[in-house]
Amino acid sequence: MTTFPDVPAFTGFNTPSRVEANVEDLNVHGQIPAEMDGAFYRVQPEHQFPPKLGNDIAFNGDGMISMFRFRNGKVNFTQRWAKTDKWKLENEAGRALFGAYRNPLTDDETVKGKIRGTANTNAYIHGGRLYALKEDSPPLVMDAVTLETQGYIDFHGKMKGETFSAHPKTDPATGNLCSFGYASKGVLTRDMTYYEISPDGELLYDVWFETPYYCMMHDFAITPDYALFSVMPMTSSWERLAAGKPHFGFDTSLPTYLAVMPRKPGTTADDIRWFKGGNCFTAHVMNAFQEGSKIHLDLPVAANNMMPFFPDINDAPFDPVAGATYLTRWTVDMNQNDEDYKFVRLSEMIGEFPKIDDRFTGQKNRYGWMVVIDPSQPVEMKGGSAGGWVMNTLGFVDLETGADQKWWCGPVSSIQEPCFVPRSPDAPEGDGWMVMVCNRLEERGSDLLIFEATNIAGGPIATINIPVRLRFGLHGNWADADRIRPLERAA
Ligand SMILES: [Fe+2]
Repeated sequence: MTTFPDVPAFTGFNTPSRVEANVEDLNVHGQIPAEMDGAFYRVQPEHQFPPKLGNDIAFNGDGMISMFRFRNGKVNFTQRWAKTDKWKLENEAGRALFGAYRNPLTDDETVKGKIRGTANTNAYIHGGRLYALKEDSPPLVMDAVTLETQGYIDFHGKMKGETFSAHPKTDPATGNLCSFGYASKGVLTRDMTYYEISPDGELLYDVWFETPYYCMMHDFAITPDYALFSVMPMTSSWERLAAGKPHFGFDTSLPTYLAVMPRKPGTTADDIRWFKGGNCFTAHVMNAFQEGSKIHLDLPVAANNMMPFFPDINDAPFDPVAGATYLTRWTVDMNQNDEDYKFVRLSEMIGEFPKIDDRFTGQKNRYGWMVVIDPSQPVEMKGGSAGGWVMNTLGFVDLETGADQKWWCGPVSSIQEPCFVPRSPDAPEGDGWMVMVCNRLEERGSDLLIFEATNIAGGPIATINIPVRLRFGLHGNWADADRIRPLERAA
């Protein structure tokens, strides 16, 4: 018998649905632009079985991948489990065998040494492969058309590290997939690896280095010449894991660092330049670009921890005001001998899950979008929220004029990360649409909304009713039809 625990993470809107589906021609209010041709992939954590330890955090669910295939003004929906090694072992046993998030000490003896990955953080298309990604494990490859799982990949043995980030970037100039791993030599190790993979999926080179302290290294940025890593004090230790504490804890006594690594074969740890900064919280990255000898990195930054489920290491209470993230620009000048990075706030919106028109990755971008918490709007807590926040607003920033726009989703809804869809491959920056899942908390339902990308204040131009409830998702990406059609023909 399966009974999920009667706690917020598994009840109300968060009740696991565990639905695999193929539904053609979803119900639409408004107009899906006829030019939209391609697929929006996204992922949500969803527990296959009730948690082994009785309770769990949402981040520890198994990956459930959704695909929205747009064509001729219609959209088809496909959803499948990312069948990781963990998923298969537990499916065979009929119960959870792996314990707490990133804590192998809590696992069943029968799965010691197995890959613990859940593939629940990002769904990313590159080189004809759909990667389902979780930062503690190798990339899981899925069929981009059917969403059937093919399995973990190590790039013909060339990927030597144990982990691969959930936030790879595609360099628009070379088509290379740029990524990294942390805890590359095992849980809690300070070893990191940078990887660059060709458009046809060959691992071209790697760079190994160590961070000043073990930390959650969740995202990074590239420019044409550099890879940038922000080291922030979400840390852990074997003592924490042995004591059964959450894997990560925030340490307000540690500095932050910005690592600047040349992007070329032959780079070693000695070629990396480390810039220092004060204690703060960072997780996701919007973009980075070079301007002469200067490098700019735009990312949401909070004065203190923004993740209540990874508490302060000294048990200080969570402070939502200090944990509010604001889009900030970190700048370094490679021609100067400064030891610190400089910083300036770019927006007064409380925003995370930053997104751009990905064709401008590593180049100066004018536009950015974020999931915004607007505390001035009323909230009716019906159905629950995964992390204690209510992400109730889609935000848009014009970094050239400083103007911003907001679209509020109402008092009983919340939103997931948006994704930009270009009107055509060579359309100007921002010319296209945003797609975004909206959680209808009271109805326990989900809609996919489409906006004109630079007029989000105008509200959605189409609302697509998704016939199954999607739980709180993490990340997603768009793939144009020219990248999908050859795969569809082959399927
Ligand atoms: Fe992320």
